[in-house]
Amino acid sequence: MCCNSWNSARIATELTAPPRQTKPAATTPVRTAADPTALPTPPGPRSPALWQTQRFIRDPLRFLDDCSARYGGCVQIHLLGFGPTFWVTNPAAIHAVYASDDLLPMREAANLVVPIFGSRSITSLDGPAHLHRRRQFLPSFSGSVLEDYAVLTRRSTREEIAEWREGAVVGLHDALYRITLDVVIRLLLGAELERERRRRVADLTLAMMSRLGLLALGERVRRDLGPVSPWGRFVRIRQQLDTILYEEIAKRRAAPGDDLLSRLIEFDDENGDRLDDTAIRDEMMTILGAGSETTATAVAWTIDFLLRDPQLNEAVLSEARAGRSKLADTVVKEAMRLRSPVISSGRVAARDLEISGYSVPRGTRVWVPINVIHRDPAVHRDPERFDPSRYDDPNLTAYSWLSFGGGVRRCAGAGFAIRSTRELLQELLLSCELTLVRARPERPRARGAIVIPGAGVPVRWTPRSDQAAANGAPNDATGRFRAAGEGAGSPDAVRSITRTNASTTSGSN
Ligand code: HEM
Repeated sequence: MCCNSWNSARIATELTAPPRQTKPAATTPVRTAADPTALPTPPGPRSPALWQTQRFIRDPLRFLDDCSARYGGCVQIHLLGFGPTFWVTNPAAIHAVYASDDLLPMREAANLVVPIFGSRSITSLDGPAHLHRRRQFLPSFSGSVLEDYAVLTRRSTREEIAEWREGAVVGLHDALYRITLDVVIRLLLGAELERERRRRVADLTLAMMSRLGLLALGERVRRDLGPVSPWGRFVRIRQQLDTILYEEIAKRRAAPGDDLLSRLIEFDDENGDRLDDTAIRDEMMTILGAGSETTATAVAWTIDFLLRDPQLNEAVLSEARAGRSKLADTVVKEAMRLRSPVISSGRVAARDLEISGYSVPRGTRVWVPINVIHRDPAVHRDPERFDPSRYDDPNLTAYSWLSFGGGVRRCAGAGFAIRSTRELLQELLLSCELTLVRARPERPRARGAIVIPGAGVPVRWTPRSDQAAANGAPNDATGRFRAAGEGAGSPDAVRSITRTNASTTSGSN
């Protein structure tokens, strides 16, 4: 105990004291280090790794902000399981990190998630193999297919709401996670996949993803000591999910369906060879993992901000009723600026490097802390203020908003994510009267790579009285409020998802 207090005091002091002189000015932000020993190591907290890790988990935004304010644009932080890590907030260096795919590839950074996503996932590929896979992926997450995904998102949202007890308190973050998982499962395996099977895939995916923290502890905990040991449990959950995924792959190989899995089966690698079952399973797992909690978290934070501003909430609702979405999109963007769901873009130094004049030994994890950049007063005026109008400022640069990362690794599902967050937000507001249960704004907490709202955004809800009429009303321009039986699940809509996928051969990000 006494030890803890001492360490807390020490950490508090080192993070609030005036910045030490940080050196050196960069000439070329990222390059191979001719003589790494001649370069300084980046400044950073000197407290034990355990303490730095605890602060990071408890409030990642505050810890990273404090470090950045104290130590400048390049900081070294010690995190358990990762060793010394290098964090860069200097804009020139960020630009160079995103542009230096050869010196700072992602493959090793993705090692952490290999037990879940597998080693054949897009996240584990680099160079030409990665670019080839991306070119195959992007058409499935951009362009006209998004219209069909939008219908699917609204349908899954309405089905989730139908299960809420009127007047009850709902943990919105969890509920949104159930919705976004349901959406990606239907995209992958078909909108009409039986509910029980969808639930099973969702439960197993949630169980896997909730063990990201275990993966961060590294190889030494990866020992199967039976079904009740942490790793043994993880391995058994993975086996059960894999069994379902491989069954679905076999079914689609025998008879292609109207879903994303049938598209994945058509993918080839950079040599023109079709993907085998393992590679397809890995991509399915990547989409399940990367495409659900991220989107749910973005909407959960948006609701927490929006419901604290009744006037803005009313404006977003009126806009949704009018079948438009400009304000909704900006509100989500602003919530993602203040609470970017993914903590950072991660890379690993492929060689001994010099970054902004500091030594970064080969194998060091290099991270771009998205939330710190988003709240940098040098980048955004009055950065702590929730202000969707800030995007009218023509002087904002591409590096002022990085929620989807950057360079050739920029989120492959960004187009889908933007559309999905909009549909989710509007459907929720149109269907329910939501009231926050907590007076205080949510506090950010790290869960795996995601910044989640610590209390889960509990809300009290009642159905909107005008909703019943709206459900039967004619579709507006976006197809909102289709009558029961017409949504993405209808044979026509499902066929249209596949038709558009198949006819779209290129896309950009
Ligand atoms: C609001 C929701 C989302 C956020 C904030 C988000 C954020 C990110 C970030 C920060 C990265 C890493 C970029 C980098 O390292 O520079 C990433 C990668 C990726 N995301 Fe998303 N994402 C979201 C939704 C989605 C969705 C819906 C999908 C697919 C269904 C998806 C699929 C992917 C994939 C496949 C990658 C790896 C790309 C590559 O390695 O080339 N994401 N995402």
